[in-house]
Amino acid sequence: MNIIIETNRLLLRTFTEDDAALIYDLNLDPDVIRYTHDPIKDLSHASEILEKVIIPQYALYNHGRWAVHVKATLEFLGWCGLKYRAELNEIDLGYRFKKEGWGKGYATEAAYATIQYGFEKIGLQRIVARAEIENIGSWKVLEKCGMTYIGDEEVDGYSVKTYEIWNPSVR
Ligand SMILES: CC(C)(COP(=O)(O)OP(=O)(O)OC[C@H]1O[C@@H](n2cnc3c(N)ncnc32)[C@H](O)[C@@H]1OP(=O)(O)O)[C@@H](O)C(=O)NCCC(=O)NCCS
Repeated sequence: MNIIIETNRLLLRTFTEDDAALIYDLNLDPDVIRYTHDPIKDLSHASEILEKVIIPQYALYNHGRWAVHVKATLEFLGWCGLKYRAELNEIDLGYRFKKEGWGKGYATEAAYATIQYGFEKIGLQRIVARAEIENIGSWKVLEKCGMTYIGDEEVDGYSVKTYEIWNPSVR
């Protein structure tokens, strides 16, 4: 396990090509993708996402979306991490957890640690995140992590709240 971040309760590690079933199962739950609108068709689609989208980011940008596990049991919870969005020239914070892991503060713990990693370990200047207006749990996570609401946007026909946070030491 290539662990990138360790928090009080969680381990964040790089995904590998062997993790297709984990992300396929995660996205099978309609409640998990209610606000993300990105079902995964089958296992080979999951493998393609890992190989073409998730894994290449690690080497290109020194960050990415990481698998999140409960430290005590190694149970897979979901993912959290950063993603470079070339079309916006922005670093995006994202997360997605299995329903069994909701309501325990795991998302906030993982997201907060990810922001600290981005600023302290890789010297990012700014991190941005977007959450649908109806996805209250998600934008609460962003607010609990100290991100600032900067306005509403329309993305692919959905209304989203946009947040940012600046690295205090490089601004
Ligand atoms: C978004 C998500 C990660 C939040 O997970 P979580 O376990 O609820 O997160 P946390 O426990 O760290 O914190 C969520 C906060 O929002 C609150 N919250 C959650 N749902 C809420 C709702 N419907 N109304 C009001 N508050 C809500 C929680 O009470 C908590 O606040 P608190 O600590 O002050 O009580 C989880 O719902 C998820 O994985 N959803 C599917 C994927 C997704 O939508 N990802 C985000 C895309 S932008």
